[in-house]
Amino acid sequence: MTDPDALDRLAGRLRAARAVTIMTGAGISAESGVPTFRGADGLWGTFSAADLATPEAFARDPALVWQWYRWRQGIIGRAQPNAGHLVLARLEARLRGVALITQNVDGLHQRAGSSQVIELHGNIWLARCSRGCGAAPDAAAAIQPGEAAPPPACRCGALLRPAVVWFGESLDEDRLDRAFTASRGCDVFLAVGTSSLVYPAAGLPLVARRAGALVAEINVDDTPLAPHADIVLRGRAANVLPALEQRL
Ligand code: OAD
Repeated sequence: MTDPDALDRLAGRLRAARAVTIMTGAGISAESGVPTFRGADGLWGTFSAADLATPEAFARDPALVWQWYRWRQGIIGRAQPNAGHLVLARLEARLRGVALITQNVDGLHQRAGSSQVIELHGNIWLARCSRGCGAAPDAAAAIQPGEAAPPPACRCGALLRPAVVWFGESLDEDRLDRAFTASRGCDVFLAVGTSSLVYPAAGLPLVARRAGALVAEINVDDTPLAPHADIVLRGRAANVLPALEQRL
């Protein structure tokens, strides 16, 4: 059960805030049926990140990597935004200065109606040139019927790759800059459904805290962020966020 006093306290701080930064992870989409990465049923329990989510894996076996991403597209395509995504979309209009940062590549925030999402780890529905030729990302190329379809090709002749960030790669500088700016400039930073293990995203709430923001966390489990958070709300995002919205 989420502590009602903690919910009230966070609601009060959100109402008073001039700028609110929210960062989500895979846990926000769990209730939509999209698997998380870590934990009992997490993707990294069944699949090897080294074989599927690194530049080396793509160089070795691009067809396997595309097959895995298309399988995930299938799951995400059948999923619907849940109550948590919908609350966060409404908060854009309800609160002042809302910035939404996500580590998710599923696009469910946008489908729920959030208009300004900083996608730190990219988007599974987009492809880009694996050689970095600079050709505009082709939205349709990432979505091929059938998991076993051959990897799509760029206009320059190289293979296209999913427009997501893999292990060992840097994040897009502009997005990271915007995420740091939003974290440094907010009065309240809310981390939702992230294990807070993957940097640089995991560092953003700490940046906010050092700059004087109140840091709150919504998660079903304990995380390395919890000891540094001012308010910890234990529970599912799809339950806690609607309860929070009712108090705003
Ligand atoms: P993880 O799978 O590491 O963590 C998901 C978090 O959500 C865990 O802390 C769970 O306790 C929590 N959780 C699960 N269900 C929840 C629910 N219904 N409500 C609230 N919390 C819930 O996912 P991320 O933290 O997003 O990166 O992972 C970060 C990055 O690591 C991902 O973006 C991905 C991954 O490897 C790349 O692929 C580059």
